[in-house]
Amino acid sequence: MQLRGTMREDSNGALSIGQINTQALAKKYGTPLYIIDQGCIESNISNFKSWFSSDLVETEIVYASKAFINGYICRLVAENGLGIDVISAGDMDLLKKIQFPMSRVYLHGNAKSKQEIKMALALGVGRIVVDNYDELQRIREICAEYSYRANILLRVNPGVETHTHKYLRTALDSSKFGISLYQNDVLSKIKQLSSDPYVRLMGLHCHIGSQINEEAAFIRTVEIMLNFCAEISAQTGIGLTELNFGGGFAIYYAKRDTPPQLSSLLPAIVRKAEEQIVKRNLSLKKIVIEPGRAIVGEAGTTLYKIEAHKTTYSGRKYLMVDGGMADNPRPALYNAQYEAVVVDKLSVDKTERVAVAGKCCESGDILIEDIMLPPTENGDIIAIAATGAYNYAMSSNYNGLPRPAVVAVKNGQEQLVTKRQELQDIHSCDVATDPL
Ligand SMILES: Cc1ncc(COP(=O)(O)O)c(C=O)c1O
Repeated sequence: MQLRGTMREDSNGALSIGQINTQALAKKYGTPLYIIDQGCIESNISNFKSWFSSDLVETEIVYASKAFINGYICRLVAENGLGIDVISAGDMDLLKKIQFPMSRVYLHGNAKSKQEIKMALALGVGRIVVDNYDELQRIREICAEYSYRANILLRVNPGVETHTHKYLRTALDSSKFGISLYQNDVLSKIKQLSSDPYVRLMGLHCHIGSQINEEAAFIRTVEIMLNFCAEISAQTGIGLTELNFGGGFAIYYAKRDTPPQLSSLLPAIVRKAEEQIVKRNLSLKKIVIEPGRAIVGEAGTTLYKIEAHKTTYSGRKYLMVDGGMADNPRPALYNAQYEAVVVDKLSVDKTERVAVAGKCCESGDILIEDIMLPPTENGDIIAIAATGAYNYAMSSNYNGLPRPAVVAVKNGQEQLVTKRQELQDIHSCDVATDPL
């Protein structure tokens, strides 16, 4: 397994993260357990800031909180000066609770309710990213009622093909997100917005998908978006000031992944945007990106206890662990691949070919289909790497499993940041009435 962030093998061949022994964490907090490597997140943020910077325009890094959200990560993001993108009333409520600076909040979503729009306006979120014309009309009506003018970005779909999993592509012409910029009425709709008393169109947003390895797809997106800005300017006279290119930067999970080199890709995105702004004399003042996975993905590790071993009639060997698709649905959803180690056997020869099976009642609940590990016993702890994004955030109580705890580690210190659910939490909303 590739060691990421502050993961190290200590002199006893055991895995530490943030200078904390992972076996000890499993013992203290139980398993499954999500570990967050804060040093890794901080170094990712610092890299994003230095590589996505420009002398010509303002640049902003907005953390896509759908990847992993709790009070701790929102505070960390706020302290590091990033913006944040959120989706729902639930997300906004959390930001309110931790007093996140609301001017740095972007509200996304393709089916925003009236309640969510009103909440965003009442809290003063920085930008509402409008997905469709029905939503635009809803925002206008609410603003008319409250004599307000909302700052919006229009999410457009640049139609860029990527080679990621089909559920992770968001910019195909048939995608549910945004308004295709090839649609006939898009320019006239934008023109109408220039004099709208209820919304202030600050710029455009796009997001081409997630876990995208191809650098060319990002550069192509920048070109298309800047072309479109130039077209808007020429045909409507509107000078947009902001462009948001979304997130989607891939990370390394397992051998098949070839993530982009952010140290060269991010400056290339900035250079491409600057070049077009100057060449076309555009009024853009700010460019934005929204990474989620690339900030937290490799900072997360999940610890599991091996509960049972089984060799099938056909000879396939399974390790059965105490978590699974309830804490990590990605293998079942996207055929996602992961690497793992036995936490106290890093230097033991990997002689066993096994599958790591989750404990949910689904044949598809296999966390790792095929991996070489050292011989193991029941009770051994395994660590699956790169589970920081879309794991805790997508976790469920399927099969009555409590959501695991989350512990942050850094420089030899650890801190519980989300408690493990108790059994009474799982069915806490159940009314448990008699049948009718
Ligand atoms: C609008 C938007 N922005 C940003 C992201 C973050 O993507 P990633 O975590 O791949 O960087 C997503 C995720 O799908 C998204 O939908």
